[in-house]
Amino acid sequence: MCGIVAYTGPNQVYDFLIKGLQRLEYRGYDSAGIAIMDGNLKIYKQKGKVSDLVDLVTGEDVSGTSGIGHTRWATHGEPNKVNAHPHISQEGSIAVIHNGIIENYATLKEMLVKRGHVFMSDTDTEVLTHLIEEIQVHEKVDLFEAVRLALNEVVGAYAIVILSKNDPNTLIGARKGSPLVLGIGETRGEYYMASDATPIVEHTRDVIYLEDNEIAHVSPDGLKIKSLANVEKTPYIQKLEMTLDAIEKGGYEHFMLKEIYEQPKSIYDSMRGRFTTNDLSFAMRSLREYESKIKNLERVIIVGCGTSWHAGLVGEYLIEEFARLPVEVEYASEFRYRNPIITPDDLVMAISQSGETADTLAALEMAKEKGATVYGICNVVGSSIPRMTHAGAYTHAGPEIGVASTKAFTAQVTVLTLFALGIANIRGAISRDELSLLLAELESIPGKVQRVLDSCANDVLEISEKYKDSNNFLYLGRGYNFPVALEGALKLKEISYIHAEGYPAAEMKHGPIALIDENMPVVVIATRSQYYEKVLSNIQEVKARKGIIIAIVTEGDQKVKEIADYCIEIPDTHEALVPLLATIPLQLLSYHIAVMRGCNVDQPRNLAKSVTVE
Ligand code: G6P
Repeated sequence: MCGIVAYTGPNQVYDFLIKGLQRLEYRGYDSAGIAIMDGNLKIYKQKGKVSDLVDLVTGEDVSGTSGIGHTRWATHGEPNKVNAHPHISQEGSIAVIHNGIIENYATLKEMLVKRGHVFMSDTDTEVLTHLIEEIQVHEKVDLFEAVRLALNEVVGAYAIVILSKNDPNTLIGARKGSPLVLGIGETRGEYYMASDATPIVEHTRDVIYLEDNEIAHVSPDGLKIKSLANVEKTPYIQKLEMTLDAIEKGGYEHFMLKEIYEQPKSIYDSMRGRFTTNDLSFAMRSLREYESKIKNLERVIIVGCGTSWHAGLVGEYLIEEFARLPVEVEYASEFRYRNPIITPDDLVMAISQSGETADTLAALEMAKEKGATVYGICNVVGSSIPRMTHAGAYTHAGPEIGVASTKAFTAQVTVLTLFALGIANIRGAISRDELSLLLAELESIPGKVQRVLDSCANDVLEISEKYKDSNNFLYLGRGYNFPVALEGALKLKEISYIHAEGYPAAEMKHGPIALIDENMPVVVIATRSQYYEKVLSNIQEVKARKGIIIAIVTEGDQKVKEIADYCIEIPDTHEALVPLLATIPLQLLSYHIAVMRGCNVDQPRNLAKSVTVE
């Protein structure tokens, strides 16, 4: 949550800051601000979006070649102009932007107030500015050392960047728990910093992902990195692989729509080169390197949040069915605080698009401490989770910018399918025939997703138009389609603000059935499966109470069609792979309803894409 961006170098900074903040707006969008160094620190802040900040600044003198910018998702203090970042110190000598939470801010604030500091905002961040300045003045140290000493006093999570009036052309950045990427420009003394690489990508490909407890100092004299314990670090420079068109809308009205339509490719990319169908072999490094561990595994525990947790549920069905291993799927936020029983024979797997979700990261750290092998399925390359796991697999879905996750989910499910089949193969739990069939079917999925996208658009638009004003939706599914129902409901409530619940179809009679009347649209995933007849009975139960049935069915279906109000057909596939197809019309349904209701699809209210606070 919160996006931060910074630049120092020979060029004017304003345009870079604004464009960078717009790219990072998915991380939070309740207020925004910039500070530009031009002899003095010029600070502009505004409640609302980056575009509101641009309106505020229009006509102002924004010249300057060093600056920092922030887009906020409020934690401490309501979203208003005063609480927006950057925050400045008592004497106005430094400006700070921060992503994270300073947990001991109240204690630090009390100490600083006793020493005469006066605070302007309700934020935890402002404490940092005062603390750094206080240390610099009293310890008579340079800014770099003052930041290091101050951060040694801080408990919590942060990525920060500091701009100082007294140190022109200098930026100091530090991270612990929240991401910070440092870009090295072409000219000497030219540096970029940002929460992720998207603001940097068209300026440089040479980047350093700061590690936790590291502080970076950049100036015309070059780059220095130190640990909080004052040990000099050698920077590890990596080449960015991201492309510019991957982070632009490419003619689509919204990122979410672009990302939905990218799924044939993103699903293909997530499986590309990872298996061969002729000799039924897997080329996933994580499986090869951990083969003996996998043979002796007792259990898999999957942790995640939001959509990633739903992917984990699909993973549970896949791993249990094919690898015959017990699986537990846990909300990371519950798991980490529950003192769970974990043994060295457990594999704890985190699923996370961003690789930064605070609860997921903490759950994994705890499992690692307890001796489990930790595994990550993440999308953002170089993010925190992949860097702390023993092994893992990237989803390779490409940047996902819409706050509501779409292509990341199907990529996660694809990788989970490969993981399940790969470990089933290692453990001898699956026959060659079944493996061959599943891998061949998996290969056909991108083409089938394309068929769904091509064929369902009109039906989805018609249904959206008809039910966009509903107050409630119910989503039902069984087996592999139960997590699909949860994900369909989550998508709708996230972006259209319609109350929606996902349920295992058979559970409907234990409560939700009381809600069904002629105003309740019930989306049922009723594809060909071992549960087909049972789901058909559930549909009858809804119809008997005058509920409206919107069914996702397999091509050629007859029985559901006779009862349902609307049917959307998807191609036939193996039951275990249906989530990859059935999810697509549900994503489109939520998208079109949200657009018709005038909602901000890519940046729904109160949400953020990368939840770096617990
Ligand atoms: C937020 C996002 C969701 C996402 C969840 C987990 O709530 O809005 O779309 O599913 O975080 O994020 P992760 O990056 O760990 O997958």
